[in-house]
Amino acid sequence: PKESVVGPLVGAVVQGTNSSRFLVFNSKTAELLSHHQVQLTQEFPKEGWVEQDPKEILQSVYECIERTCEKLNEVNIDISNIKAIGVSNQRETTLIWDKLTGEPLYNAVAWLDLRTQSTVENLSKKIPGNNNFVKSKTGLPLSTYFSAVKLRWILDNVSEVQKAIEEDRALFGTMDSWLIWNLTGGVNEGVHCTDVTNASRTMLFNIHSLEWDKELCDFFEIPMSILPNVCSSSEIYGLMKAGALEGVPISGCLGDQSAALVGQMCFQEGQAKNTYGTGCFLLCNTGRKCVFSEHGLLTTVAYKLGREKPAFYALEGSVAIAGAVIRWLKDNLGIIETSEEVEKLAEEAGTSYGCYFIPAFSGLYAPYWDPSARGIICGLTQFTNKSHIAFAALEAICFQTREIVDSMNRDCGIPLSHLQVDGKMTTNQILMQLQADILHIPVIKPSMPETTALGAAMAAGAAEGVGIWSLKPEDLSAVMMERVDPQIKATESEIRYSTWKKAVMKSMSWVT
Ligand code: G3P
Repeated sequence: PKESVVGPLVGAVVQGTNSSRFLVFNSKTAELLSHHQVQLTQEFPKEGWVEQDPKEILQSVYECIERTCEKLNEVNIDISNIKAIGVSNQRETTLIWDKLTGEPLYNAVAWLDLRTQSTVENLSKKIPGNNNFVKSKTGLPLSTYFSAVKLRWILDNVSEVQKAIEEDRALFGTMDSWLIWNLTGGVNEGVHCTDVTNASRTMLFNIHSLEWDKELCDFFEIPMSILPNVCSSSEIYGLMKAGALEGVPISGCLGDQSAALVGQMCFQEGQAKNTYGTGCFLLCNTGRKCVFSEHGLLTTVAYKLGREKPAFYALEGSVAIAGAVIRWLKDNLGIIETSEEVEKLAEEAGTSYGCYFIPAFSGLYAPYWDPSARGIICGLTQFTNKSHIAFAALEAICFQTREIVDSMNRDCGIPLSHLQVDGKMTTNQILMQLQADILHIPVIKPSMPETTALGAAMAAGAAEGVGIWSLKPEDLSAVMMERVDPQIKATESEIRYSTWKKAVMKSMSWVT
């Protein structure tokens, strides 16, 4: 084996909206040694509904683990060096399964799903105007985004779930819980747990006491008996029950955005990162205190790296549609065949020629929180062609990030001097240049964009009883940083940004 691969290795499951992956890192250098990815289907049974098949997701994770191990074997890397596994996942996506059969009782209702709009309206009438206890306890605005309202909808609409609850057979979880329960043995043996970061996105979790909250569960009428046990983000939850990595401890668990914050080593107050995935999520570490936003951001648990370690918090700006708009160009418009092709197509235009694309497919998240917004493409002329639309789609991702950065700057009082970014889309050079131009600050990106996986691996490797990752900067020696500087004048970015804002206003309150 190569010199760099001698030593303990750590695997990371990354279960995203679009795909599942398994990646293996060297814990001494953070070098990525091998990985495998499986694309996932998303189902859109009705307008605004987004579902995923929990069994397809589970199967994809098994396949990724097995294929990655085969690839490591092919290059003579001994998989017995894999000493721990971390799990990071799309957050909020909600599912319920039967603990006696292991079968899901309904499809997973994805975080992007809008079916709960009227559930949210009805619930918000029940919150006293002078005491928004939901916001103060959870850090979250009442929205279709979070698990509690999805769970409420499932309980109201799926009789099989109601029956399973009455018969004490139902378990609730976000994707982390579903995966860990299955990977640790499922029926009879599976560990039913989650971590504080995932729990903090359910709207049933008190982010101050770090416990499920009775008042919130009563408010949403959710039986506490179906909730998973809440753990820290770094501890041994259980052992892999089967497959090539049987017996390896699962010892890291974080929502994907928290994992990326850890992977970027944003451990100091004021450090922030933006991850470009299906959506775009900018998290700023606020240390050990909960900071409440006045500008449409969320307060969330950033991480808790060990049972006895303190929880750290973050302000988060969530953008629902980033990479998803590129997938839409591919799957719905058919103007590209692969997501990567968007860069070439946008490059042909080099500008949007005044075309603005607001991809409010799931309403608008931060800072507007308008579930009734819908997507628009405006500023079209007979000159506009598909390459301008591709360019406008990339710009949309950057403008949405700019809105979040502006909110973050206002809440924190100190403007960000640069933006640390990650996620697969950061390999798109046009996107990164546009981002630096639109923010008018440098963008700093790691040479290895899989920061989410790295963070999950770090948490797993650092867990008590594993102890092979020290979380020091020198452990990331294989990761180089690249810097992209703005290339346009600040006045130009301001003009483009103000036109974007005008277009956003047109997309809002579209459906009533
Ligand atoms: O909150 C949703 C988020 O966790 C989804 O992440 O990677 O699928 O964009 P991703």
